[in-house]
Amino acid sequence: MSKTILITGGAGFIGSHVVRRFVNRYPEYKIVNMDVLTYAGNLENLKDIDGKPNYIFEKADITDEEAVNKLFEKYNFDGVIHLAAESHVDRSIEDPMAFIRTNVFGTVALLNAARTYWKDNMENKLFYHISTDEVYGSLGDTGLFVETTSYDPKSPYSAAKASSDHFVRAYHNTYKLPIVITNCSNNYGPNQFPEKLIPLAFNNIKNMKQIPIYGKGENIRDWLFVEDHASAIDLVYHKGKNGETYNIGGNNEWTNIDLIRELCAIMDKKMGRDAGTSASLITFVKDRAGHDMRYAIDSSKIMRELGWEPSLQFSEGLEKTVDWYMENEEWLQSVISGDYQAYYNQMYKGR
Ligand code: NAD
Ligand code: TYD
Repeated sequence: MSKTILITGGAGFIGSHVVRRFVNRYPEYKIVNMDVLTYAGNLENLKDIDGKPNYIFEKADITDEEAVNKLFEKYNFDGVIHLAAESHVDRSIEDPMAFIRTNVFGTVALLNAARTYWKDNMENKLFYHISTDEVYGSLGDTGLFVETTSYDPKSPYSAAKASSDHFVRAYHNTYKLPIVITNCSNNYGPNQFPEKLIPLAFNNIKNMKQIPIYGKGENIRDWLFVEDHASAIDLVYHKGKNGETYNIGGNNEWTNIDLIRELCAIMDKKMGRDAGTSASLITFVKDRAGHDMRYAIDSSKIMRELGWEPSLQFSEGLEKTVDWYMENEEWLQSVISGDYQAYYNQMYKGR
């Protein structure tokens, strides 16, 4: 059946994998990618599908209510998959307001448009909000985040995402808007902006620069390959139950230091370096303010109810990711030119 779907933030890291998947798998759908192209958005991420008849790009800001309404008017969307966000915790510590603007106001602008344009017939409509496990706060040594874990966000980023999740549920309760929310763990893979741990470390290792590890490197994240997140999003969009939340994770916990040692070992091989050369770049730096200790997701609901499972082992996914960055030097160079240097120097004091 034909559908017109709005995907927000489709030029970003995860969004570009979701847009590509939907455009290629569903030629009968029309996919409209709405993205304002912040520093994190890059149309290069989608150049392989540019020109496909079922793909349209619209440059617009989700906080611009007029622009959002115009797109709903123009395309008569059947569904929204909402990924556009400010997504980096360190930036949220520097400038919380930018996160409130996009993640909260922007989400509410989209919800308002959906409510307005769908009010006469909500059947077969869906507002799918992509969220993060960070809304649940930080775990101790044991336990996993489940869908009913209480929200306890601890960074400006996660507080803004939590707020947007609450608005999505409030619109479901108040206006009967059909919604679904997924909360996913840390993603990695091709096209991730090199402000996040893995691509930042890759770039530094490649250039024999210090690898900044916050605190003692003992913080734990649960890593999922980005295409496995995209496959989960596809499944939830088509099979998820109205009003439900699904957690998505890789069942793949790593301390930052162990993960970086693994990455260093792969890079030594790929770069033809003596074992241990890349690891000698590891440098412990001042900890992130309010640094969440551990995230870990229980994905059993989406696995049991929708039959999702991740396709890749971490070792395969990490190697695939390194290969992609090696083969896409031009992409990396283009995103780290300009503003990136100023950002890096401010955050890492020119290390
Ligand atoms: P990203 O920063 O790589 O991409 C965000 C995209 O949104 C960019 O293309 C950017 O241009 C666009 N954007 C930002 N502000 C906008 C605005 N006001 N109007 C229109 N477009 C705007 O982010 P990502 O890592 O791909 O994350 C995508 C979504 O997934 C976010 O909602 C994030 O909270 C969520 N998420 C991310 C992870 C992760 O590990 N990266 C994990 C779980 C959930
Ligand atoms: P990040 O990729 O920013 O994702 P998030 O904070 O959303 O989990 O960071 C992943 C982990 O790596 C987190 O514990 C912070 C840590 N980290 C470093 O140690 N050094 C760095 O330079 C960065 C960017 C992150």
